[in-house]
Amino acid sequence: MYQKRCFLLSVFIFLIFPFCTSTDTITLTQPVKDGDILVSNGQTFALGFFSPVDSTNRYVGIWYNKVSEQTIVWVANRDRPIANSSGILSVDKTGNLVLHEQGFSRLVVNESGTVERLTWHEAERRWIGFWTAPKDRCDAYKQCGPFGLCDPYKTSTFECDCLPGYEPQSPQDWYLRDGLKGCKRKVGARVCEVGDEFVEFQRVKVPDTSTTRVNMSLGLEACKESCLGNCTCTGYASADISKEAGGGGCITWHGEMNDMRTFSHGGGSRFICELMRLN
Ligand SMILES: *[C@@H]1O[C@H](CO)[C@@H](O)[C@H](O)[C@H]1NC(C)=O
Ligand SMILES: *[C@@H]1O[C@H](CO)[C@@H](O)[C@H](O)[C@H]1NC(C)=O
Ligand SMILES: *[C@@H]1O[C@H](CO)[C@@H](O)[C@H](O)[C@H]1NC(C)=O
Ligand SMILES: *[C@@H]1O[C@H](CO)[C@@H](O)[C@H](O)[C@H]1NC(C)=O
Repeated sequence: MYQKRCFLLSVFIFLIFPFCTSTDTITLTQPVKDGDILVSNGQTFALGFFSPVDSTNRYVGIWYNKVSEQTIVWVANRDRPIANSSGILSVDKTGNLVLHEQGFSRLVVNESGTVERLTWHEAERRWIGFWTAPKDRCDAYKQCGPFGLCDPYKTSTFECDCLPGYEPQSPQDWYLRDGLKGCKRKVGARVCEVGDEFVEFQRVKVPDTSTTRVNMSLGLEACKESCLGNCTCTGYASADISKEAGGGGCITWHGEMNDMRTFSHGGGSRFICELMRLN
């Protein structure tokens, strides 16, 4: 799926920067340096280096050329920013996009979407890969932070979502596809009032159990009541996930919910999470 996504991204890049003239092309002999901006034929998109607000790190991205407030639509190196303006973007002989840094390190995005970091070993006189990504976008613990849900099967968008009733803690990071800070309750959400409801997730990995309580003598309905009756309770599930609703004990979460992710089929369990009522 990830491969498909990045393949689509590559197609996207070549679709919006098609049949180029000299001002909208990256070639072997004509790389893009930090400070250069490549504008698509139709003048809609621009590609170049940028720094987000409050940061001096440099990222390679595509943004809308005509929108005065820079709106990034794609970021190449969100996990590996360049610390200064020494970055150079080029294509290699096989058509991969390559991001070079001084200090002879380079980042290659190949056709199947694998990002690989290579450094030049002078003694061996060859490029050596020391880092590749990703295996599964949701493999990393807390990939989407507290109250975030990681979905590795989303093909064209960011893998993180906030749980219903929550919004990104840092919209800036979220927009750069960095979900680590996770989500917070939406402004204005009223929590723990009569009429609070729950939203049910199927085929998810339940949040980690560092903030849980278990009571094996409660069924699922009593579990819900016990969660409703305690304002620190953020969600509940059947403790024995192999059993259907009704039996199997009660597990409740109190506080942060971390490390939730979805599974495409099979696996996972029924997990019910509090849905905050909004006015
Ligand atoms: C930029 O950073 C790289 C690696 O951190 C360093 O080798 C290089 O000298 C720096 N270049 C400038 C112009 O500061
Ligand atoms: C992309 O790079 C990865 C890691 O080096 C490699 O396994 C994969 O075959 C490459 N894909 C293509 C299309 O070259
Ligand atoms: C489990 O729930 C039952 C029924 O509400 C209650 O009597 C019991 O004290 C609870 N046990 C624990 C360990 O909280
Ligand atoms: C709510 O649950 C937490 C964690 O089990 C517990 O410490 C707290 O006393 C409970 N509050 C009430 C009002 O029952």
